Amino acid sequence: MRQPIVAGNWKMNLGRAEQAVAFVRKIRHPLNEVQGVERVLCPPFTALPAVADALAGTRIGLGAQTMHWEEKGAHTGEIAPSMLEGLVQYVILGHSERRATGSSEESDEAINRKLRAALAHGLTPILCVGERLEQRQAGETELFVAGQVAVALAGLEAEQVARCVIAYEPIWAIGTGEAATPVEANRVIGLVIRGAVAEVFDETTAQQVRVQYGGSVNPENIADFMAMPEIDGALVGGASLKESFVDLVRRAAEARGG
Ligand code: 13P
Repeated sequence: MRQPIVAGNWKMNLGRAEQAVAFVRKIRHPLNEVQGVERVLCPPFTALPAVADALAGTRIGLGAQTMHWEEKGAHTGEIAPSMLEGLVQYVILGHSERRATGSSEESDEAINRKLRAALAHGLTPILCVGERLEQRQAGETELFVAGQVAVALAGLEAEQVARCVIAYEPIWAIGTGEAATPVEANRVIGLVIRGAVAEVFDETTAQQVRVQYGGSVNPENIADFMAMPEIDGALVGGASLKESFVDLVRRAAEARGG
């Protein structure tokens, strides 16, 4: 069955190596003890090497928050897949906070290129999708999210899709304290996201790919999301910057009988 995965997206926080390592030292032992849930920390680029060292010898994974698709070249400020290979195991792609810049480097097509590059370098992509409030209110959630999934995964092999993680992050739920209801998140993930994967690939792949929920997840509500059969974990922002992230992950594991 699908192994649940909880990832902490630190966003633009704790970016100085010493800050990041001080925090990781506080959580790494208890976090490492949790069984049955894959755990991942995604610090800013500037802290990745130091956090990689601090996590050595643990089973806690490390992820980057974005990546370019090109191997090298004139892309000021960008990070190439080869720069991450061997340093991290995961990479968040297409986060809505990056898509919102409107940059051509964050278009659905660009995210598709990034996904292929990540997979080619042995990284596990965490592909973010999710609708804006206006789209939800206009009844466009299903079409929009299914479209994001289909374009991002276009041209991949089914076996590669099965290795991806998808994060359903409705934009209106991010950083607002207003999480989606577990029932609604479960519906979108099962019907829309797995539905789109089944349509483009096949039902087996749709059942293999892990899909997280993200948006105002905290230690109090995580168990309700984990109780849902289609939800395989969470992508956590603000609550991953606190030591209580360990409780959140523990509760995720307990909710799955871990
Ligand atoms: P919050 O958990 O702070 O709402 O952020 C969610 C998110 O964007 C994770 O990628």
